[in-house]
Amino acid sequence: MLINNWYVAALSSEVVADKPFGTQMLGCDFVLFRDSVGQAVCLANTCCHRGAALCNGTTEGDHIACPYHGWEFNAAGRCVKIPALGEDAEIPKRVRIDSYPTQEKYGWVWVFLGDLPESERPAIPDLLPEFDDPEHWRLIPYRAEANVNWQRFEENSLDTAHINFVHPTFGTRRSPKVMVVPIQPTEHGGRVERRRPAPKVEQKTGEMAKVLNPDRGFTSVSLEFSLVGVCHRIQPVFQEGMSIITFSVKVPIDAFRTRTFGVQARNFLMDPAQDEERLASIMKAVKEDTDVVEAIRPVFPPASASEEFLTETDGMEFQFRSKVREWASRGWEIDVEKMLAEQSRRIMVIPSPARREDPNNWVHKAVPLRSVQS
Ligand code: FES
Ligand SMILES: [Fe+2]
Repeated sequence: MLINNWYVAALSSEVVADKPFGTQMLGCDFVLFRDSVGQAVCLANTCCHRGAALCNGTTEGDHIACPYHGWEFNAAGRCVKIPALGEDAEIPKRVRIDSYPTQEKYGWVWVFLGDLPESERPAIPDLLPEFDDPEHWRLIPYRAEANVNWQRFEENSLDTAHINFVHPTFGTRRSPKVMVVPIQPTEHGGRVERRRPAPKVEQKTGEMAKVLNPDRGFTSVSLEFSLVGVCHRIQPVFQEGMSIITFSVKVPIDAFRTRTFGVQARNFLMDPAQDEERLASIMKAVKEDTDVVEAIRPVFPPASASEEFLTETDGMEFQFRSKVREWASRGWEIDVEKMLAEQSRRIMVIPSPARREDPNNWVHKAVPLRSVQS
């Protein structure tokens, strides 16, 4: 798992002023709420007094109050009130928890989990401009959780060859050969465009089967991923004026479980009454993928590439791995084995930007990072 990256923590609608929202990412706990000007705040969830979960507490204006002894923390994570010590108590600087930068985009609250200063943080990828064009694109959001490692799951999304075997409604086993085309590297990811034989109309069901041209021949598919945000955009164009875009992010809940937030956009069958059928088709595909990926071994991608046999049709998966390695080579990979070994006795948090300025005055330790081999 990687720090110094943007992760989606919640739907924007889930983060409100009067009730804290708790979630888990990268094996750590977080709490989110909105301050009095509507800004989303994200803090480490564990109170630095004696470990209670702040998400079970209450919001008090711009502060969050711990459910155990009422200590209050502001949006920067500083403790501003210890009721048992009285109004005039002086609160040491060390009584604080980590606070993380947030941004809202695509109807989600994104949180930067890491300690980079603002000037060094990458931008959240702009892979779904259609989000702002509701006249031409009908959007449906979805979310799913699976007992799979995030890397294994994202590799599945970038993999073209599996479609013909795992998804009976949009793949076709009659012509499984994948068009091998060079991957275009991007700053934080890669992009590819391919054509593949269109599945027969009989493979489709519902309203979609009625509007597809049976003689369309090929589906053109563009696929782009970014390691920033661990996200991708897949866009099949079925025929003139008929296309679907699926934009989704993977969020490691921990090393073994992954949450997906997605938005599907379509420019046909725009009537909201069609949403149910579209959503059912997304969730069917998600289940087909999850069933395969949950059974992959080893659970994490192997340490050495020679312990699997990748071929030229695995180009995007290869590109994804190289971007993950790039992040790890900067010292931004969590040492999962070490974290798991210590987690039951020690709170470990993702380091926030304030730790860069003052690395020592903290109650909780930062997660162990893998040292970089030189
Ligand atoms: S554990 Fe939070 S105030 Fe005591
Ligand atoms: Fe799939």
